[in-house]
Amino acid sequence: MPCLAPSAKFLLAARLAESGMLKLALAGPSVPARLYPQEHEVYRMTTPIAAAADALLQTRSEFPILEKTIYMVSHSLGAMPRGVEDEMCEYARMWGQRGVRAWHEGWWELPVEVGNLLAPAIGADPGSVVMVPNVTTAEQIVLSALDYPAHQNVLLHTELDFPSVIYLYQGEKARGAELRVVKSSDGISVPAERIVEAIDARTRVVAISHVLFRSSYLVDVEPIIRRAREVGALVMLDAYQSVGTVPVDVKALDLDILVGGSVKWLCGGPGAGFLYVKPELREKLFPRFTGWMGHARPFAFETGMDYAHDMFRFLNGTPHVPCLYAARPGYRMIQKLGVDAIRAKSQRLTERLMAWGSEFGIPMRTPADPGRRGGTVSFSVAEPQRVAEELIRREIIVDWRPDAGVRIAPHYYTSEEEVDETMRQLREIAAK
Ligand SMILES: Cc1ncc(COP(=O)(O)O)c(C=O)c1O
Repeated sequence: MPCLAPSAKFLLAARLAESGMLKLALAGPSVPARLYPQEHEVYRMTTPIAAAADALLQTRSEFPILEKTIYMVSHSLGAMPRGVEDEMCEYARMWGQRGVRAWHEGWWELPVEVGNLLAPAIGADPGSVVMVPNVTTAEQIVLSALDYPAHQNVLLHTELDFPSVIYLYQGEKARGAELRVVKSSDGISVPAERIVEAIDARTRVVAISHVLFRSSYLVDVEPIIRRAREVGALVMLDAYQSVGTVPVDVKALDLDILVGGSVKWLCGGPGAGFLYVKPELREKLFPRFTGWMGHARPFAFETGMDYAHDMFRFLNGTPHVPCLYAARPGYRMIQKLGVDAIRAKSQRLTERLMAWGSEFGIPMRTPADPGRRGGTVSFSVAEPQRVAEELIRREIIVDWRPDAGVRIAPHYYTSEEEVDETMRQLREIAAK
């Protein structure tokens, strides 16, 4: 008896039959002859020949949702790998059959072990990444280890960072931080030069996004880290929108702190955030937001805090065990495919999306330069909410955000035909 009932295939077959796509899917190999499909052309499933040309498409069968939708929302919630079902069964088996012994049979170590699985995706060594519930928590742990002396109390961020962490920074004012907010002149980008200019001897921490969530602008962090180093400021990079689709190498960058999460490009589901701390920095940080998991001897239940010497020192209470199980298949997939190959494909498909956008005269709020672009393209259509909802009704899954428009993100499992079909439908809906 399988752990979860397999209903998706049955539903898909019914759906495809209903839409006439089943016939096409069964029709055998056919090569799309044109880059741009013609008006009213029937949507074609990815063919075996097209799939052979793009090795990453071989992962498609691992993602149940691709059987019934065009899934273009991996900047928000990456598709679930099939392996998550087994992981959840294994979690249930451990709890159900091993009971409390599960803590000593793997559960306690999971935050660091799963961090080790993620580490290669950011160029980190084993033992330098730990799992936490989300980015906001990861940043709070780090900030709680900082003081803001009057001569060096500036917390620098940009106005286009993710609001959740901005709210956190605003709270730091009560602890003596002075916020310095680097503005964007176009609502799309925050050029690195502008951030570099804003860093001075009073800067305590530079807390910025790697890829901006609205526009997918990729910040060139190297000069920023260099400048921060000169003035003795820490850099904490929110790499949520880059890890898994844009190569990140914490060692090559000499980065102090990296935070991210698994909901998006890593296809790891909610509740699996992560925190990298440069090993040389680790024992210089004493988070006030702490707990028994951060103690060197948690099971001695001492009343005085003595921080663990490894990445456990950044933990606090009981860990989010089921989420850590769920995160693993997505991480393994990234490891297997390699982020360089994913990035090359992402640049090709976002270029294709933008070529469509230009052809249809739809304004885009995403950098035209592929080197400065993450994995998403934001289309500035009128009534973005209506357009996104209608696309979703047609089983083309996207989202929309104020000041961004409709956000569309291909990932390693996306085919060129899906990109084309998405844009054709977008144009039709936006024109109404
Ligand atoms: C750049 C960035 N940072 C942070 C978050 C979310 O943070 P958290 O994991 O705390 O929910 C998002 C999510 O949408 C994001 O795009």
